[in-house]
Amino acid sequence: MKISNNTNNIDRSAGAQFVQDMERDKNKRKKSRSLKPLRKIWPFITKYPGLLGLFVFFLFTASMTSLVMTFAFKYMLNCGFGAAGNAANLCEIAGFNPSDGRGIYFVFFIVITSLGALLGAARFYTISILGQRVVTDLRTALYNHITGLSPVFFEKVRTGEVLSRLTTDTMLVETVVGSSMSIALRSIVTGVGALVIMFVVSWKLALMVLAIGPFIIIPAIVLGKRVRKYSREGQDNLATASARAVETLSSIQTVQAFTQEDTERTRFAEAAENTYQSQKSRLAVRSVMTFIMFGLGQAGVICVLWYGANQAAAGKMSPGDIGQFAVLSVMAMVNFGFVITTWTDLLRAAGASERIVELLGEVPQITAPENPAVLVNAKGAIDVQDLTFSYPTRQDETALDHVNFSVKPGETVALVGPSGAGKTTMFQLLLRFYDPQSGQIKIDGIAIKDLAPETLRQQFAFVQQATPLFSGSAMDNIRYGRAGASDDEVVAAAKAAYAHDFIMKLPDGYDTDLGEKALTLSGGQQQRIAIARAILRDAPILLLDEATSALDAESERAVQNAFAVLSKDRTTLVIAHRLATVKKADRIIVLEDGKIVGQGTHSELVKRGGLYARLAELQFNLED
Ligand SMILES: Nc1ncnc2c1ncn2[C@@H]1O[C@H](COP(=O)(O)OP(=O)(O)OP(=O)(O)O)[C@@H](O)[C@H]1O
Ligand SMILES: [Mg+2]
Repeated sequence: MKISNNTNNIDRSAGAQFVQDMERDKNKRKKSRSLKPLRKIWPFITKYPGLLGLFVFFLFTASMTSLVMTFAFKYMLNCGFGAAGNAANLCEIAGFNPSDGRGIYFVFFIVITSLGALLGAARFYTISILGQRVVTDLRTALYNHITGLSPVFFEKVRTGEVLSRLTTDTMLVETVVGSSMSIALRSIVTGVGALVIMFVVSWKLALMVLAIGPFIIIPAIVLGKRVRKYSREGQDNLATASARAVETLSSIQTVQAFTQEDTERTRFAEAAENTYQSQKSRLAVRSVMTFIMFGLGQAGVICVLWYGANQAAAGKMSPGDIGQFAVLSVMAMVNFGFVITTWTDLLRAAGASERIVELLGEVPQITAPENPAVLVNAKGAIDVQDLTFSYPTRQDETALDHVNFSVKPGETVALVGPSGAGKTTMFQLLLRFYDPQSGQIKIDGIAIKDLAPETLRQQFAFVQQATPLFSGSAMDNIRYGRAGASDDEVVAAAKAAYAHDFIMKLPDGYDTDLGEKALTLSGGQQQRIAIARAILRDAPILLLDEATSALDAESERAVQNAFAVLSKDRTTLVIAHRLATVKKADRIIVLEDGKIVGQGTHSELVKRGGLYARLAELQFNLED
């Protein structure tokens, strides 16, 4: 396989794209119809009863305090401003004597407000910490679970979707636990409390304020929907613009070479302009909404106060009562407003938790048997018996068709055949990434189904066709083969893989950061790191899938020599298109359309004629 710069660009933009998409995803993620799914994350919350209990305590005390504050306000108004007559009596009834000096009312007000602020801060802290705790647990639980799932799962569900669940969905849950839920609960408790006290202070006035409610709430709901529609539209347009930008900027040479700069500029400007238009509409609706909620609400409350003032003038209510009532109505209104605005957040988080729980419930297809067989340091005998297999996503096509062969310990066997013949598939079944529809594979006489997948996979060192490496240093990447290996062992493996020289030339040698997917290396260099990783693994069976395809003739020769040494006392299966690579194998198995069509040494197969002879003739004659 050739790894060109093109693939590098695609990979790089894919990463950037993902980061881009995350913010947009948050708003695009499907909402749930009800809040029921939120219950599914309840166990994650109740794991911390202490924090939860503290939060509930602070929730109620803080709300209570803010309600009591309205009484402090009332006494401050009635008694703190040198009240006389009726009001003075009220002050005494409440246990305050105006002759003590009016400072006491202010002090009481200050104390209760400070207490309220303190409790509010404590409530904020406990719930935010709980939110962070829950989301951390969810993320780890998800990652732990996902990494154990079989390849079939990743074929069904796109990696982008899985990542969205891991990041965006957990983020949504965090918002809900850490803030929306807290705001909603706090608003309900305070709002209801305020309403109750309003009725106690004056049920007539309370009913009047309630009558204003629908005039504010109904437009808020209707306009709120509009706002969300426009903001989603804006985000979609922005996402299209940035996606194209990421793609074009990461391949700017292609754009410039084809002199398409102006086309791209126009395209980007259009998308940006569309975003502006949607945002403009959104902001207009939002402004109207603000006007209705504040303007109408305030006017309504002031009308009610006007009526109250007449009552006070008639001596039916104290000025403090009116003042307290005004504060309470604003409190009620603001808090119910909060409940409305957080509702969508809650629904969105419910959708998120549904997807998270669904993912956590996904069962791996490949599991260990109840009593796994023991296999330590296998000798490396492989028996493939009547193996038939189709990929789960492509059931109607047989990737392997009644395949039979066996490999003796220490033998080197090559698998050759046209592209799509089923060679890589064979390796995947050996590692038990899939289970066959019929037939079985045995290692040292033990059916691989009877082994724990980890035990089985420990017997293999694998160089994949598309050499995936991870970000990190050369040292890290090679050591991925065997976690406990010493630096010297890593260097020895690198030398055997013919990688030492180029690694030493990197700016920081073995400690050079290779970048995402090690894309700062050339294709052949990546391949040699992957080979070093497999060499270091030191497992009984070596699987090489086009391991040297990206190397020049000289490096390939050197790496082949290393493999020759390595495979002396271990079983080796080699896949290669370049037949020169496999000429020296003890035996060659020829695959075509999932079937074995020939077996033998190079010279035997050439003599016998058929597919291999044809391939060999093409390759060797062309080279002549
Ligand atoms: N994950 C998959 N899901 C469905 N079909 C697959 C999958 N992987 C491979 N196939 C199909 O299975 C068949 C065998 O593929 P395989 O990768 O084993 O070929 P190969 O012999 O390794 O080819 P190449 O030399 O090109 O690497 C092909 O037809 C391919 O399209
Ligand atoms: Mg292949």
